[in-house]
Amino acid sequence: MLLQFPHLLTPDEVRQAQELLSHAPWSDGRAGAGSQAAQVKNNEQLDHDCEAARTIRALVLRALDRSPLFFSAALPKRVFPPRLNRYGGDSNYYGNHIDGAVRYLPENGQRVRTDVSCTVFLADPESYDGGELCIADTYGEQSVKLPAGSMVLYPGTSLHQVKPVTRGYRLACFFWIESMVRSDEQRRLLYELDMNLLGLRQRHGESDETTALTGVYHNLLRMWADT
Ligand code: NI
Repeated sequence: MLLQFPHLLTPDEVRQAQELLSHAPWSDGRAGAGSQAAQVKNNEQLDHDCEAARTIRALVLRALDRSPLFFSAALPKRVFPPRLNRYGGDSNYYGNHIDGAVRYLPENGQRVRTDVSCTVFLADPESYDGGELCIADTYGEQSVKLPAGSMVLYPGTSLHQVKPVTRGYRLACFFWIESMVRSDEQRRLLYELDMNLLGLRQRHGESDETTALTGVYHNLLRMWADT
């Protein structure tokens, strides 16, 4: 399931992130990649301990907290702390790859399985050329380039790449989620049931049927969730 979240961040939050990133200490992105990924990776990333990274990470996590849509789509168990990267100049692409299945939390080494991937776009699309995130989806390749502050969510199992940036800089925040529901197919069913229940309630109010279907939602979640 590939989903877009327009305006995840407010315009003020986007401005704050862009200001912080304009004088942030970028370094070679290959350091954090596995051996296959390192061969195709050519971007820059921020040390996760620097002030800009800490502030933007907190800002993105707050934005996720206020999004019921994010909760419904990802059913998060653990979120790997958001990281920041930049594409431009000589470091301007990331070829086809699949992200490593397991990441280790920097603070305690705890494992996070990367069921769901997210990218929050932070540069205005008019300020750079290229830099599309291309994701191999069930229905063919999707090319995604969103306004600053908007996010895309997609299955961690997808082959994906970032196309070369030929002008300006592409700034983004990216992270992974270990979901309570490991299977993308099951998450999608739960998400569709949840969204359609929401629509039914908005259109017709509460009814015996919506109550019963909400029960079905929770019983499926109980069956499939690993909490
Ligand atoms: Ni990736």
